[in-house]
Amino acid sequence: MSLLDAARQVRENAYAPYSKFKVGAAVRGASGTIYRGVNVENVAYPEGTCAEAGAIAAMIAAGETEITEVAVIADCPSPVPPCGGCRQKLAEFARHDAPVTLATTDGERLDTSVGALLPGRFDISHMDNV
Ligand code: THU
Repeated sequence: MSLLDAARQVRENAYAPYSKFKVGAAVRGASGTIYRGVNVENVAYPEGTCAEAGAIAAMIAAGETEITEVAVIADCPSPVPPCGGCRQKLAEFARHDAPVTLATTDGERLDTSVGALLPGRFDISHMDNV
């Protein structure tokens, strides 16, 4: 199964009763295994979590720490852009050139990379004094 198909399938399980905006995400670990995530909203709105965060958490829980590829899909007029926080979360575990596919449920897709999504990112090199 392609990474985008995994994201499309898991999106059905998103819990988004407040925004009605279901998001599915899939990341591939260095082992080749696919990890899936969906957005999980909460009546206390700030407690909701994004699909990308769920996929990353599943990968870390399985004992992997490197993302080699990302796919995110939503019912959007244009390929769904990950939020700023998720861009930083993805950057923690992926190389700059790790491919990212952003998609709509209508079949539109945008191919980009983790580095392109977050230029000038804060990383460990900015903490050389600690
Ligand atoms: N959302 C994600 O899960 N990932 C994104 O990349 C964009 C936004 C979710 C958060 C919230 O549950 C809903 O979409 C509307 O913002």
